Amino acid sequence: MKKRNKKRINKKNCLVLILSIVVISGLGLLFYNLFKLNLSYEGEVTISYGEAYKINDAIKKVKNGDIVSDNIDVDTSKLGSQEIPVLIKDKFGKTHEVKIKVNVVDEEGPVIHGVKDSIEVVEGSNVDLLSGISAQDNSLEEIEVKVEGDYDTSKPGEYTIIYKASDSSGNETSKESKLVVKEKKIDYYAAPSAPVMPDKTFTTCKGFSGVTKNGVTYIDGYLVANKTYSLPSSYNPGGLTSETRDAADKMFAAAIADGMPNMWAQSGFRSFSTQSSLYNNYVARDGKAAADTYSARPGHSEHQTGLAFDVCVTGYACISSGFNGTAPANWLSKNAYKYGFILRYPSGKSNETGYMYESWHFRYVGTDLASKLYNNGDWITMESYFGITSEYNY
Ligand code: DAL
Ligand code: ZN
Repeated sequence: MKKRNKKRINKKNCLVLILSIVVISGLGLLFYNLFKLNLSYEGEVTISYGEAYKINDAIKKVKNGDIVSDNIDVDTSKLGSQEIPVLIKDKFGKTHEVKIKVNVVDEEGPVIHGVKDSIEVVEGSNVDLLSGISAQDNSLEEIEVKVEGDYDTSKPGEYTIIYKASDSSGNETSKESKLVVKEKKIDYYAAPSAPVMPDKTFTTCKGFSGVTKNGVTYIDGYLVANKTYSLPSSYNPGGLTSETRDAADKMFAAAIADGMPNMWAQSGFRSFSTQSSLYNNYVARDGKAAADTYSARPGHSEHQTGLAFDVCVTGYACISSGFNGTAPANWLSKNAYKYGFILRYPSGKSNETGYMYESWHFRYVGTDLASKLYNNGDWITMESYFGITSEYNY
């Protein structure tokens, strides 16, 4: 009987023990689950070079734990990857380490310094387009600047040039500039002598007959001097021809009668050598290409014929574009033909005459031809009327 009881007691104790173990383990599991560390974080972050970033920003959520390592600033001054440990202590006092991989990347192109809107050089000179140019990248690496563009410093003109710089991350920056190659001006210029025209007779494309004798050319009986037809240096009528002077006096008197201010021929006859000095000085001042648009080379000026002059008027700009469009300029353009003069270099006809508009330059041709060229104020040039060119062939 006693033996049986003992057996029962042992069985009961065993059950209590098992139950206790089960309950205690369940409670432990419950507590563990309630207090266990729950953590989510970025395993890898990408940050721009130089960007401010605190490492704890990579931790998204920590439950049942505290970050115990310092919330350090990530060093973004160096490109590349780095691994930064973050320490987290859980409720049970255990420290966990998570490693955050930080990639520092460069997404900005270099900054190019020293690029000017335009660079001016004189024709034929050397130019160092990289002088004063530098590039700086946020990565602090050394950056080379390259220049692209077609340019020729031996030819005056404007050229587009592009500066380019790229960093090792493949970011490229470019900046545009302009290279202006200016014509070389010279202190002294001696125009070559105009070739003397050989004697010949010819017919122009408009059917006018021409003759060149002793280097002087007449077309339909009118003396012609332009860029194609030259005069020999010896051609010298000694001043304005008497017909030209008389007709000019009549025209100036008529202008006064019409209420215009006093007018006079400021520059009339010019010898070959006077024209030579004038032209050479203009070339020295403005360069040959520019001078050729407004001044005749020696031997090509109408002033050497004694049939042309430049008008100046009291109170108005004299022999300059400031005279264009003024009341006296308009009066002359409307009335000169009545006295046998033509406006020799009309506006918009420089492709025919070879010269820019000169509202002050008049040429005596007589009233017959002047009336035809007047064309109701829309002046026809001698070149167009006769069918001839005005172009230098040297
Ligand atoms: N100004 C004119 C074109 C000359 O020089 O004759
Ligand atoms: Zn003139």
